[in-house]
Amino acid sequence: MNLILDIKTSKGNYDIIISKGILGDLLNYLDEFDFEKIFVITDSNVNNIYGKNIYELLSSKYKVYKKVISSGELSKNINTIADIYGDLADFNMNRTDIIISFGGGVVGDISGFVASTYLRGIRYLQIPTTLISQVDSSIGGKTGIDIRQGKNLVGNFYNPVKVIIDTDVLKTLDEKYFSDGMAEVIKYAFIKDRQLYDILYKSDFEELYNNIDGSMDRIIYICCNIKKMIVEEDEFDTGKRMILNFGHTLGHAIEAYYSYKKYTHGEAISIGMYRVCEILYKNGLIEKNLLGSLKNMMKKFKLPVFDENILNESLLEYIEKDKKNIGKSLKIAIVKDIGKGEIINGNIDFFKEKYNYDCLKK
Ligand code: GLY
Repeated sequence: MNLILDIKTSKGNYDIIISKGILGDLLNYLDEFDFEKIFVITDSNVNNIYGKNIYELLSSKYKVYKKVISSGELSKNINTIADIYGDLADFNMNRTDIIISFGGGVVGDISGFVASTYLRGIRYLQIPTTLISQVDSSIGGKTGIDIRQGKNLVGNFYNPVKVIIDTDVLKTLDEKYFSDGMAEVIKYAFIKDRQLYDILYKSDFEELYNNIDGSMDRIIYICCNIKKMIVEEDEFDTGKRMILNFGHTLGHAIEAYYSYKKYTHGEAISIGMYRVCEILYKNGLIEKNLLGSLKNMMKKFKLPVFDENILNESLLEYIEKDKKNIGKSLKIAIVKDIGKGEIINGNIDFFKEKYNYDCLKK
């Protein structure tokens, strides 16, 4: 069964289609677009498992170039982009041709950025292959690369023409990367959806990870639907969309502090989400139960809640460079109760050891 969502944007709509085994029908989904060449961007991990099959399938009908980048966040830089531009030009990709992003969040962010800038913009289609990219990064049109000073500091908004989510590919995902994606799923539950929390509360890691055919399509659909509602209201991330950044300000800082080597994105934002709630609790703004529920959920899905450098001053330097840090004010996504996220105006003092309520009132 296909689960379909239609995302409205200022420049037209695009579909998200979620289904088990949908990759086998990929050619049918490409039929609606008129083009001659496909430039597939993937990474070394995904290529090892699916690269040959997807190449053979696509080249049965189209001229195909497959670009394989090294897997991992360290590829998300300007050198990779420049290298891809060169290959696109060598392959004579023109404005009517199409890029397929086939991989996780890094591949998706790079592909979107390349698609939005090459020849001043060509179409791209997202086939996210990790849980984190299926529930979050493939939707909403954020593209970007990292620079020395921080994550996603260069990028733009550029929507794909379609997002095709095949839950079958999750069957080859390592446990660590399943947990990584579950961190974003947990985030959606805490910021917006008590019912999703209840589903997660009644499930456990093994039940979901070992039986992808069970509930994962429904869970992914719920997450994509939450993201749809948020990005349709605030496409360019100037207000309500910032709620999706619950745990991310600190999470991004932790990732950058450890040069993207110690934690996955999901692990880093779990530490960030827990820390934010801990600060809220210590300031009397949330009940202890909420902190406990978050911790139990993280534990259940094998995610960390603490890092020894959480108060390190150098970590704060990364927060200063955060995009949500505007002038002296920092937009902070918080959760007051399960399913009840809010954005508050704070400042960097929120994340310091001797935090106090004043930093939330500005
Ligand atoms: N990943 C957060 C957003 O798309 O806004």
